[in-house]
Amino acid sequence: MYLLAVATSLLISSAWGHPSARSFSDVCHQIEDSISDASDVYYPGQLLYFKGVGHYMTSSSQHSACVVEPGTAEDVGVILTILGSTQTPFAVKGGGHTGNGGYSSTEGVQIAMYRFSEVTYDENAQTATIGTGLIWDDVYTALAPHNVNVVGGRVTGVGVAGFTLGGGYSWLTNQHGLTVDTLTSFELVKPDGSVVTVTESSDSELFWALKGGLNNYGIVTRFTLKTFPQGQVWGGLITYTALVLEDVAAATAKFAAEVTDPKAAIITSANFLLAQPGVSQLLFYDGPSPPDGIFDDFLDIPHFTKDVSTRAFLDLVKVAPANLTGNQRGAFNTAPVQTLSANIVNAMFNESLFWGGRLQFSTGSFISYDIEPFLPSHLSHNTSPSAWPPTRDTAFLPQCLYFAWISPLHDNVFHDAMRQSVEQIQRVAVQEGQQGIDTAPPYTNYALFDTPAELIYGDSLPLMRSVKARIDPDNVMDLAGGIKI
Ligand SMILES: Cc1cc2nc3c(=O)[nH]c(=O)nc-3n(C[C@H](O)[C@H](O)[C@H](O)COP(=O)(O)OP(=O)(O)OC[C@H]3O[C@@H](n4cnc5c(N)ncnc54)[C@H](O)[C@@H]3O)c2cc1C
Ligand SMILES: *[C@@H]1O[C@H](CO)[C@@H](O)[C@H](O)[C@H]1NC(C)=O
Ligand SMILES: *[C@@H]1O[C@H](CO)[C@@H](O)[C@H](O)[C@H]1NC(C)=O
Repeated sequence: MYLLAVATSLLISSAWGHPSARSFSDVCHQIEDSISDASDVYYPGQLLYFKGVGHYMTSSSQHSACVVEPGTAEDVGVILTILGSTQTPFAVKGGGHTGNGGYSSTEGVQIAMYRFSEVTYDENAQTATIGTGLIWDDVYTALAPHNVNVVGGRVTGVGVAGFTLGGGYSWLTNQHGLTVDTLTSFELVKPDGSVVTVTESSDSELFWALKGGLNNYGIVTRFTLKTFPQGQVWGGLITYTALVLEDVAAATAKFAAEVTDPKAAIITSANFLLAQPGVSQLLFYDGPSPPDGIFDDFLDIPHFTKDVSTRAFLDLVKVAPANLTGNQRGAFNTAPVQTLSANIVNAMFNESLFWGGRLQFSTGSFISYDIEPFLPSHLSHNTSPSAWPPTRDTAFLPQCLYFAWISPLHDNVFHDAMRQSVEQIQRVAVQEGQQGIDTAPPYTNYALFDTPAELIYGDSLPLMRSVKARIDPDNVMDLAGGIKI
């Protein structure tokens, strides 16, 4: 009986063309036997297993055979070699903030990078080397005593790994560009298991491809980023009720059209929560107090709550609640636009009301449109090119949709709504004469899971593919999900 069962399961697994759960756990044990004492493997039921498979949105998590926490780059190499030779599906997780299932989750082997947690500041080089298991909060905490900062996340909890490997929009982007524009070096574990340092001079094509190429080239263990002087900042969070939506939309459009000070930034989130429309308004100024005028419109509108002050950078990052939608399913999508005209801002507010009203049937749903103005010059701060964005001729602005819900039965409804809504916003942009909207590259880290790689990477794809053929000839990294090229 037993032998028959085993034989049947082998037959079934080979007929399906992928290994069974049983053999995934065999691979886990093989890894456990091969790694050094610096690393560990955790199995279902163990506390660190649940931490390892966990994500910001529950829809991005899966039940893995085991969680591996590597402690050295060499062990990452051992693990990748085993995964490649056994053709085992796996995932690499940094901060776990992707909205897409299967990107940093798997039914095979979950790699969690937590142990890569160093932050080393090099005062002479004006750089910081940071581990890919960190969240930005940790990095800001470690750099604050040196009065320097890096170009990283804007709200609490976001991982440095996916954020940086996908591009990276920061409060400091108007001054210094995307996070990829501040990278000087990667420590990369290649799919063949070797550990290499990748810089512009060591391998300019791989250096380029890693800047936006996410998990297509191997597992990154460390980034070295440029640092910049950082003093106190001004800003915080204001919330507004449904009564003043038009005023907030007008203030947002005016800010996008008129403010040219690169130290000033906002995110206006048009929300629909608990069956009520409202706005979460984040304000940022890189200095202890903003020049007169820049934020007056926002400050003058009657608010619901207000937490705006001169404060440490980290304090501002922590001002928005991290767990507003804790333990819910969710997704991001993005509508890149050329300019944030009043028309587009109004369309995004209208979309939040429209879909908020429509999707209320799903109790606990949360609908949010993040309106994010950046200066037209924000993509001009790079000293070398990057795979994403594939063009910098037009500095498209990556507007972000974030929907959250409770039941897996509603996944399709919410995903469909997010696709239709992006189409609507881009239709409004085309109607008012914005150029290049149909080929504008969606931001890697905001794009919904089925967004074509051709659209995201555009003209970068041929070179990305040839670098991929050189670095990963056996397509080991395709055993991990994500935006595949
Ligand atoms: C609340 C919230 C706020 C956000 N704010 C911003 C923002 O201000 N600006 C912005 O640009 N984006 C923002 N994002 C989007 C963010 O960039 C993405 O969610 C990104 O995936 C986060 O990186 P992570 O390490 O947490 O993700 P993970 O889910 O851990 O990983 C995402 C992808 O990166 C890959 N990856 C992870 N680690 C490695 C590694 N070591 N080597 C190779 N590949 C790896 C994974 O395989 C996966 O494909 C925000 C997201 C959320 C949920
Ligand atoms: C969010 O966290 C705070 C502080 O830890 C807690 O008081 C609150 O109940 C949490 N909210 C949700 C929705 O989980
Ligand atoms: C509001 O959004 C809906 C859904 O996309 C659209 O049909 C409608 O035309 C929009 N209304 C305005 C005034 O833009």
